[in-house]
Amino acid sequence: MSQNVLASSAGVAAQAGRRRTFAVISHPDAGKSTMTEALALHARVIGQAGAVHGKGDRRGVVSDWMAMEQERGISVTSAALQFSYQDVVINLLDTPGHADFSEDTYRVLTAVDSAVMLLDAAKGLEPQTLKLFEVCRQRSIPVITFINKWDRPGHDALALMDEIEERIGLKPTPLTWPVGIAGHFRGVIDRRTEVFTRMQRSPGGADLAIEEEMSPEAAAELYGADWETANEELQLLAMTGADFDDKEFLAARSTPVLFGAAVANLGVRQLLNVLLELAPPPSARPTVSGTDKPVDSAFSGFVFKIQANMNRTHRDQVAFVRVCSGRFERGMLVTHGDTGRPFTTKYAQQIFGQGRDTIDEAFPGDVIGLVNATALGIGDTLYVSEPVKYPALPSFPPEHFAVVSTSDTAAFKRFRRGIEQLDGEGVVQVLRSDQRGDQSPVLAAVGPMQFEVATHRLEAEFGVKTQLNHLPYEVAARTDEAGREILRTESNVEVMTRVRDGALLALFPHRWRMRSVAGRHPDLRLDD
Ligand code: G4P
Repeated sequence: MSQNVLASSAGVAAQAGRRRTFAVISHPDAGKSTMTEALALHARVIGQAGAVHGKGDRRGVVSDWMAMEQERGISVTSAALQFSYQDVVINLLDTPGHADFSEDTYRVLTAVDSAVMLLDAAKGLEPQTLKLFEVCRQRSIPVITFINKWDRPGHDALALMDEIEERIGLKPTPLTWPVGIAGHFRGVIDRRTEVFTRMQRSPGGADLAIEEEMSPEAAAELYGADWETANEELQLLAMTGADFDDKEFLAARSTPVLFGAAVANLGVRQLLNVLLELAPPPSARPTVSGTDKPVDSAFSGFVFKIQANMNRTHRDQVAFVRVCSGRFERGMLVTHGDTGRPFTTKYAQQIFGQGRDTIDEAFPGDVIGLVNATALGIGDTLYVSEPVKYPALPSFPPEHFAVVSTSDTAAFKRFRRGIEQLDGEGVVQVLRSDQRGDQSPVLAAVGPMQFEVATHRLEAEFGVKTQLNHLPYEVAARTDEAGREILRTESNVEVMTRVRDGALLALFPHRWRMRSVAGRHPDLRLDD
């Protein structure tokens, strides 16, 4: 991505203040890729207007990324799309995941300052949105809601507000309100300024929407019943106190809501404006010592994703680092917090799909890709001057388990190396089972597609054909040595060691089975 987005000698605090780092959380098909393209389109247009000298055609960049996803059949790249909009640098972090989730998807949320929850107007809250929202809730990440696909039939706007409040407990505070039901989208009323903006898709729908501010009288005349209904709904909203409150939003208790249709760019500009105006910039980050690290202190960051072999022509490993404080400068010598060793950052890049640019400097909120950073692991901290350690990234409880093995004895060394690599990257969790021995590790995943990624990569990158034997467990809980002894007396329960951290995990076929076992052994330690 373009260097000039970053080039500035302004102070670190000012640079952090002009950054917005967020991710889109949504269910597959709600329109995340379309929204990404729509946001990129704004960047491209700015580029053409001269405010940002975009490098190449940004739609091309996004398409490359998607082509790569298609080629591998899954979303494998997790990087940040960076662009400048009205002097603000937007970092949009990808939350990979199509029909399924992996831990990667969740981990991206440890590196953002806010999230955009994208809902399909016809479907409302869907399962994967709820799962991702749960991570946002646990981390108190402020969430902006965008009701997408308002250009085609869907739920009633007020019913969607009720659904949000009832199912996830966030108070919806619409900032814009649609005139026209889903499928008859006329435009939106800005609830704070009361200005109505008529919106129409550009011919073909591929360009920015055509927007026109219109007086209430003209809108009433043009849209009759639609206008009246929207105004009645606005009165209802005012009565329920659904007004935007900065503190409530930042405390992740309320969510500003916007309406639009990403496919036609309707409402996308409004979303960008809300991100600029209301989404929080990077701020002081808690460290394990209990103090917060200010954004304008010396450089620090943490690794939130590792990806190997992204580029087939150069077999390499990239560690994605979210900058938390200070100014990052390519080539700077940083300390790897986990080993205390120096680490040189000569090969720092900005990576989005296959597009790579060398990056010279970065500021809090930005994401840098460190190439060939094989010493780095997920969650590791990097810093200069004073030592700092950010809390370990959460590990999500796996729900799918399978024994992986290879019948190709000549390939066993490669098999082992491959499993270690995938564990290090966090593609799957690797468990050791005393019963099965080292030759047959157990893979544990949050979503079953992680298995496909693992076996595909073992074959493509390590040349090992593997077999998977799925195990009949769905729930894992942490236990201890005493628990392991107790559980030996129970059938259909196994205790395994997670290689990554040595944790003992007790595996149960169902939650109710876990409860019944726990009920019989009051001293048994089981932590979800
Ligand atoms: P995802 O990344 O969240 O999985 O969703 P994606 O953007 O791929 O969108 C899923 C489908 O929904 C696509 O249609 C896309 O065009 C459509 N879509 C996205 N936003 C809107 C919107 O605002 N209005 C309408 N009407 N449709 C929208 P598709 O038929 O699967 O693909 P395509 O052939 O249209 O690209």
